[in-house]
Amino acid sequence: MKAVQFAHFGERDVLEYIDVATPKPKNDDLLIEVTAAGVNFVDIRERMGVYGRPETHVGHIDLPHISGLQAVGTVMEVGPSGDRSRIGAKVMSYLPAGGGYAQFAVAPAKLSVQLPTSIDETAMAALPTQGLTAYLMLTACTQLRPGESVLVQGASGGVGSIAVQIARILGAGLVLGTAGSEKKRQFVRSIGADFAVDYNRPDWPKDVLGKTGGRGVDILLESIGREIFEQNFECLATFGRYIIFGSTRGPGKPFEPRRLMKKSQSISGIYLPVYLAKADLLQEALQFFVEQVANGKLRPQVSQTLPLSQAAEAHRLLEEQKTVGVIVLNPKR
Ligand SMILES: NC(=O)c1ccc[n+]([C@@H]2O[C@H](COP(=O)([O-])OP(=O)(O)OC[C@H]3O[C@@H](n4cnc5c(N)ncnc54)[C@H](OP(=O)(O)O)[C@@H]3O)[C@@H](O)[C@H]2O)c1
Repeated sequence: MKAVQFAHFGERDVLEYIDVATPKPKNDDLLIEVTAAGVNFVDIRERMGVYGRPETHVGHIDLPHISGLQAVGTVMEVGPSGDRSRIGAKVMSYLPAGGGYAQFAVAPAKLSVQLPTSIDETAMAALPTQGLTAYLMLTACTQLRPGESVLVQGASGGVGSIAVQIARILGAGLVLGTAGSEKKRQFVRSIGADFAVDYNRPDWPKDVLGKTGGRGVDILLESIGREIFEQNFECLATFGRYIIFGSTRGPGKPFEPRRLMKKSQSISGIYLPVYLAKADLLQEALQFFVEQVANGKLRPQVSQTLPLSQAAEAHRLLEEQKTVGVIVLNPKR
């Protein structure tokens, strides 16, 4: 089968579009013929060899590696203890071990949910990793209560755009999103945010305070880092919960935790693979996405669809912040 693999960590030119052996499903795994594979910012970090470093704190990648944390496809085969009745079904899968940048991928049975035949497969491929991260941050991690305000940093990105929509579905009050260009801010408003904030302006926290009557927000989701990390505390409310899920601009300065006492605030982090220990929660969330897309409340945003052979171009567009939503690779083109 064709796949995009890297044998060394590095820049985009380490990605090779080559022939590799089709994987075999083990245990109760599913072998799916991939029709659409979603791209994540995490894939770039994997390619660069960022995971497993002491300063990164999480992750590990063995080489050679095929990236791709999510795919939609048809079940062609199951492992020796698998459920053969799933053969022929269309599924959306979270692939924690990667492998989605390929014509065939092995997917854990528990992390694959059946899709209605009428659903848009490309759009569903934009959901699993970004959606699970967003959903868990707003539920298990910060326990959003109806009416609470939420600020989503990087709200036009894959995780951010789903987080804005899930916050709305879960009954958030005010939803604010940040983005770096007017085009992206327009998009953030179009997916349900009440206001879109330009976080490249140094005094952007004033906008958030202005929109919240000086109180600040109850929940803050952040994956940017650097100066944005410190600025967030200017607009986090009393009892506010702040969750960190990435560092696209690099980490912020060290933080003195006793500062949190003054306003009874909390700060936490998430690394999605840790939730594999709670696979039922992941499955429940994937099922929630299928229902919410079917009833029209959740609209996954596909930025571009590119042939699988152009995975390096997908990485370039993400690295240069040229996307709105998620890029999806098509292994059949
Ligand atoms: N913790 C976890 O388990 C987990 C799971 C999934 C993803 N993540 C992390 O979540 C973050 C978002 O992932 P994603 O797939 O949604 O990425 P994405 O689609 O590229 O979105 C990232 C957003 O960050 C903003 N950004 C600011 N500075 C940037 C920079 N220097 N480079 C790139 N983007 C920058 C961009 O918006 P503007 O152009 O508007 O600034 C962009 O919309 C990443 O850090 C990723 O590693 C973490």
